[in-house]
Amino acid sequence: MRVESKIWMIASGKGGTGKSTVAVLLGGRLAAQGKKVLLIELDSGLRSVDIIAGVYGKTVYDIEDVLAGRCEGSKAVVESPLYPGLSVISAPYEGGVVRPEALKVLVDRMTDYFDYLLLDTAAGMGDAFLAAASVSGGALLVQTPDPVALRDGRIVSDALYEGGMRQIRLVVNRLTGYSFRGGAVRDLDECIDTVGAQLIAVIPESRQIQQAAAGSTALPEGNLAFTALDRLAQRLEGKRVPLAVPRAGIG
Ligand SMILES: Nc1ncnc2c1ncn2[C@@H]1O[C@H](COP(=O)(O)OP(=O)(O)O)[C@@H](O)[C@H]1O
Ligand SMILES: [Mg+2]
Repeated sequence: MRVESKIWMIASGKGGTGKSTVAVLLGGRLAAQGKKVLLIELDSGLRSVDIIAGVYGKTVYDIEDVLAGRCEGSKAVVESPLYPGLSVISAPYEGGVVRPEALKVLVDRMTDYFDYLLLDTAAGMGDAFLAAASVSGGALLVQTPDPVALRDGRIVSDALYEGGMRQIRLVVNRLTGYSFRGGAVRDLDECIDTVGAQLIAVIPESRQIQQAAAGSTALPEGNLAFTALDRLAQRLEGKRVPLAVPRAGIG
């Protein structure tokens, strides 16, 4: 039976802002809230979702195999042992170009089986970004709160708006107690103004996130990063829950 699927791309101007991390952990929280979630990693050559989602070594086929027609989409889907209800299609270790037509065929098929599709893209506005934008209903811009990353985030959000993307939401990631002290970026309002997108989540810098990724283990409950991601999942669902903002982010 076809369920109403929600397709979100995860993007950023700069690399290393935490797109893949947020994509997996958000997918995990959506799954915990009863959704069937498929995360497709479109960052060729920089596979990392497999480690964070705990499917490292379980991947036989990757997204490049699917898009090139070498296997059925379903063959490349691997369930995360860490986050029940979250499935993953990994990026290739080295890969070709992501063609929008091929991605659309896959996405159309997968929306029959999943409530949410999360498309984790590469930094910037290359082929994976453009292909993801052509099939997504919304974009989550994952940005660290530093001036250069935020400015590049603006370039990406402008391009998405111009391309007709309806919903663009800002995720400020890796906020620390020092983020707004040096004066380079004043506060969350400045993050929002610089990127030009509505804020949907603030995720703190978290040692637990790094430990979970390093050990391919699930992010434990009971820390602020977990709560922030859980709230993000609820807010995507349209629930009116407040942001979980670390103290450093207030004022
Ligand atoms: N909130 C966070 N706190 C601490 N480390 C983080 C956080 N988000 C991401 N990271 C770390 O930042 C690095 C880059 O994250 P990744 O998700 O691979 O970024 P991207 O997909 O944007 O390139 C990884 O080492 C990851 O563990
Ligand atoms: Mg990534």
